Amino acid sequence: MLKPIQIKEDLYYIGVNDRTKALFENLWPLPKGVSYNSYLILDEKTALFDTVDVCYSDVFFQKLETALNGRPLDYLVINHMEPDHSGSLGLLRSKYPNVEIVGNKRTADMIAGFYNITDNIKIIGDKEELPLGKHNLVFYLTPMVHWPETMMTYDTTDKILFSGDAFGTFGTIDGGITDRQLYPERYYDEMIRYYSNVVGKFGSPVQKALEKLSDLEIDYICSTHGPTWTIPEQIQKVISIYDKLSKYEGDEGVVIVYGSMYGNTEQMAETIAHELAMQGIKEVIMHNASKRAHSYIIRDIFKYKGLIIGSPTYNNRLFPEISAILEKIEERDMKNRYLSYFGSFTWAGAAVKRIGNFAESTNFEIIGEPVEMKQSMNIPVYEACVKLGKAMADRLIQDRK
Ligand code: FEO
Repeated sequence: MLKPIQIKEDLYYIGVNDRTKALFENLWPLPKGVSYNSYLILDEKTALFDTVDVCYSDVFFQKLETALNGRPLDYLVINHMEPDHSGSLGLLRSKYPNVEIVGNKRTADMIAGFYNITDNIKIIGDKEELPLGKHNLVFYLTPMVHWPETMMTYDTTDKILFSGDAFGTFGTIDGGITDRQLYPERYYDEMIRYYSNVVGKFGSPVQKALEKLSDLEIDYICSTHGPTWTIPEQIQKVISIYDKLSKYEGDEGVVIVYGSMYGNTEQMAETIAHELAMQGIKEVIMHNASKRAHSYIIRDIFKYKGLIIGSPTYNNRLFPEISAILEKIEERDMKNRYLSYFGSFTWAGAAVKRIGNFAESTNFEIIGEPVEMKQSMNIPVYEACVKLGKAMADRLIQDRK
């Protein structure tokens, strides 16, 4: 039997680890799994924060019952309705028919739609308070981080922010629950991947949410995925990661994402990459779009300022994997990137033109002259690729000043 884990006086972790699911949202790979976090405050009133994916409801309810130890469950606060968190809601209401569900107007609409529950729901507004006894909750509506009903709940007594998906990570929490009990470094890349894959389109709402929370003293961040953040430097760090990502600010470095059927277009990518290195750019990340899951390519595009895209012509269009990447970039309203591009064809060129159309639709700064190759590498194409690599390196180096 699994037991709830005490994080601090009155605060218990009753979430679960999922090492079974292959794809989060049936889209994004989970090689290190994911956790669905739920927390319980035991006070004069008892309050649960979010539930878990319904596949893990057995373990979740065991932990909850043990933690409550015969006491009633007074409130379920729903910070986020996506079913990885609300999935056990229907079962929870059956087991605890008197629990009052706390959420905003949009939450209530989704509870009715997803779970056909319309009674005993407490609708709260922005910055409304709910006393539990010693603890006092304040609700902050943070719409579109990343659904319209998303909100965060702040416990003014212990300075705990229940943040929903915000500051969450892929990866199970193995052993320890808090950043003091494990190596937080292993979660940062998975935090960036979670943000870029799932939340990435919503930079502006995330900025608004950060602004709204900026005056709060935060001693604990209890997100719905990944570790609980308690070390002041780690709290600062995860907030700054979110701030940077939501402003679409990238580090010095270049992601080269390319398609290549028989290796010819790849030779262009290799030439450009080597020239970047020769010019002193050390972060050069090459992604073969057919081989690497797009989840990781998108993560890296969020990390670095430079982006170089290459594609063969296929069916008089782009190579399909590159098309899919461009769509993912567009969906996320990416900003603040330097973009160069190249492509190839065998009898009629279309790829370079189509990446050019994409480039025009973005606000990216276009760097260098696009390179187009017929069939295979020759000296003029090689030299043009070198020139393109140098132009991108020069632009990045200019930003060092
Ligand atoms: Fe973790 Fe948006 O669900």
